[in-house]
Amino acid sequence: MTIPDQQALKIAVARAAVAEVSAGSILGVGTGSTVDCFIDELARARVGLKAAISSSRRSAARLESLGYRVVGLESLQAPMDLYIDGADEINSALCMIKGGGAALTQEKIVASAAKRFICIVDASKRVEVLGKFPLPIEVIESAITPVSWAIRAMGGDPVVRPGVITDNGHPIIDVHGLSITDPVAMETAINQIPGVVANGIFALRRADLALVASAQGVARLQ
Ligand code: A5P
Repeated sequence: MTIPDQQALKIAVARAAVAEVSAGSILGVGTGSTVDCFIDELARARVGLKAAISSSRRSAARLESLGYRVVGLESLQAPMDLYIDGADEINSALCMIKGGGAALTQEKIVASAAKRFICIVDASKRVEVLGKFPLPIEVIESAITPVSWAIRAMGGDPVVRPGVITDNGHPIIDVHGLSITDPVAMETAINQIPGVVANGIFALRRADLALVASAQGVARLQ
């Protein structure tokens, strides 16, 4: 058997996620290369949506180019049924690090407006302990110095991501060297630092289901 490459795994997990989508629904859509595959597969399967709510300009543009209507959260009367997004790391409790594509704040906001969060990843994203992937933090620019002090006091090594400004107009600090053994506590602690817009730990709102693609197929973790 040939070993599927990472792109083939992204397509496999994207197809599995399409099967979770109800035609005619309002769907929350995340950001990243795996989500790009999901959007493409959704269109390929001709799944019609009432509308999509996107976590980024990037995903909105892709959705619209394939004929989907993209609306804002103000269009919702109640939480939508489903949000689908990728992750940079995911642990066995379905807590994640996200934000490698700099869309973490909008991703948290859109995820918070959904009843169910399905995370789509290939098996390389599974970890025992979060933190090997540098933790992205979106910050108010004027707060970079004190936020960096606070992060160093927590044991991390903050590096401002060069040349990146989020859709919200803010820089990103990537924090290296953390071992996040208590994701809820660390997400909460970082949220308390003045000037932090959002951090990339998704533990207070973890995934409800992870679809994980590997050479053996797509596993469902919950
Ligand atoms: C975007 O900001 C991120 O949270 C992505 O969801 C994450 O980086 C996963 O992206 P890939 O699917 O490209 O690995």
